[in-house]
Amino acid sequence: MLTIRQATLSDLDSITGIYNDAILKTVATFDTETKNLNEQKTWFEEHGPKNPIIVAEQDGIVVGWAALSRYSTRCAYSDTAEISLYVTEEYQNKGIGKKLMKNIVEEGEKAGLHAIIARITDGNQISVKLHESAGFEHIGIMKQVGLKFGKRLDVHLMQKIYKNKE
Ligand SMILES: CC(C)(COP(=O)(O)OP(=O)(O)OC[C@H]1O[C@@H](n2cnc3c(N)ncnc32)[C@H](O)[C@@H]1OP(=O)(O)O)[C@@H](O)C(=O)NCCC(=O)NCCS
Repeated sequence: MLTIRQATLSDLDSITGIYNDAILKTVATFDTETKNLNEQKTWFEEHGPKNPIIVAEQDGIVVGWAALSRYSTRCAYSDTAEISLYVTEEYQNKGIGKKLMKNIVEEGEKAGLHAIIARITDGNQISVKLHESAGFEHIGIMKQVGLKFGKRLDVHLMQKIYKNKE
């Protein structure tokens, strides 16, 4: 059975394992060095009610996570978050990413966020489609801003706004 729930500190080992795998094998993240638990603890503590972290648990195993991290420490950005979303390789393409996306978007709304930014590496069509299906719009491309595995990479910027009035 798949459960989506709020992450706790005891999930950090699993979250870190999933993220480190993506660091080493993919261009989905522009981190190039794996994270240790101390670094991850700092990251975890930077989140809170306004910046949720959730996990997907399949039969007691954490197989994915999503977060709405602060977009910037500058105060005027406080209602804007940046999304991260990772599913363990062997559990991908089973609908878990979609469930995480639906849940984290709902959590962001409950938390009172106004906008979510996504930065998606060029070529990650699965992620682009997933964000489109959750109501994210394309707002631009940052050209050649990344360098990973010897290749310069473009980044697609996407955005979701909860309420268009304010
Ligand atoms: C992007 C990611 C989170 C998607 O999670 P997932 O659990 O694999 O996705 P889902 O199974 O929910 O599928 C979402 C959609 O993508 C499609 N999809 C997923 N994997 C696919 C694959 N390997 N090939 C083709 N389509 C695929 C699904 O068919 C589905 O499409 P639909 O809406 O038309 O039904 C996951 O692939 C991942 O962790 N990738 C590496 C990290 C990453 O790219 N994170 C995003 C950073 S911006």
